[in-house]
Amino acid sequence: MGLAVRTQSFWLCQGLVDFWSQAWEPLSVTCRLQPICPIEGRFGARSQAELPLRALQFKRGLLHEFRKGNASKDQVRLHDLVQQLPKAIIIGVRKGGTRALLEMLNLHPAVVKASQEIHFFDNDENYAKGIEWYRKKMPFSYPQQITIEKSPAYFITEEVPERIYKMNSSIKLLIIVREPTTRAISDYTQVLEGKERKNKTYYKFEKLAIDPNTCEVNTKYKAVRTSIYTKHLERWLKYFPIEQFHIVDGDRLITEPLPELQLVEKFLNLPPRISQYNLYFNATRGFYCLRFNIIFNKCLAGSKGRIHPEVDPSVITKLRKFFHPFNQKFYQITGRTLNWP
Ligand code: A3P
Repeated sequence: MGLAVRTQSFWLCQGLVDFWSQAWEPLSVTCRLQPICPIEGRFGARSQAELPLRALQFKRGLLHEFRKGNASKDQVRLHDLVQQLPKAIIIGVRKGGTRALLEMLNLHPAVVKASQEIHFFDNDENYAKGIEWYRKKMPFSYPQQITIEKSPAYFITEEVPERIYKMNSSIKLLIIVREPTTRAISDYTQVLEGKERKNKTYYKFEKLAIDPNTCEVNTKYKAVRTSIYTKHLERWLKYFPIEQFHIVDGDRLITEPLPELQLVEKFLNLPPRISQYNLYFNATRGFYCLRFNIIFNKCLAGSKGRIHPEVDPSVITKLRKFFHPFNQKFYQITGRTLNWP
């Protein structure tokens, strides 16, 4: 066990050294790594059981530990850690698999995630607090790493593209999409669960998605509007060229995550470091889960992967027909064709 722990810790460490030595400033980074990897370094000897914990603290962001009282100001200072504005943002789409994408990208040694949705650009009150407030919400990271945050409301909120552009006009933008009707039902399911939790009743999906007067798709229903991806994307394209976006296939991220993640690594100009080792299928959850090392693995929370209510097949057909032309336009603009009906 002792040997396994040590080997694993070395593996994680080695991954970082490999990554940096191939990507950026090998010498300075190797120095910086030393206190993190061999624990016997600057902070004195630790028990072997603590080794993977140190690695975890690193990946979860020292700020997080700092707030919980597990990391000292000295540690932050000595490690030369900084809070950096994100180099990439997962801007949406709600229920597309945004959490899974963020957590899976965080497996990469050069990526540090902002755990919470920050809602800086879509919330006027937060936005008024200024960019320094936003930066302070970011986890600590090494200067050579990149910070990524996700706030799915960004994709559909009118003011956000201009605000992000003002912060960084060359930022990379990730959009994870799912087949639009499935996404709309997933969106509905989340709201329904919230209502049930408060002992409230709620309409059936069919009643919300179809206008009872016209018997056509109700475009006023938010879950429907959010799934018209091309409409939202067109607003973003007034500020950013299409090359700054990467479309992630959220349906494929569920069934076959690795190739999707490899495409993102490429888009972010990161060396390929996420491997099949980091992803294992958990039959009980029915989803892929994350393996950081032999000690630490995790699945997403139970609120991800809810059972959807059954929906009248004629409503599904109507919705799919409705989304079809918008989907075609989306494929055309993005250059990514997805096999949606
Ligand atoms: P469902 O709850 O409809 O199944 P978001 O994080 O944007 O809210 O997206 C939630 C969706 O992520 C879930 O929708 C689920 O299908 C999907 N997902 C993708 N990969 C997953 C994973 N590895 N574990 C759990 N959910 C995952």
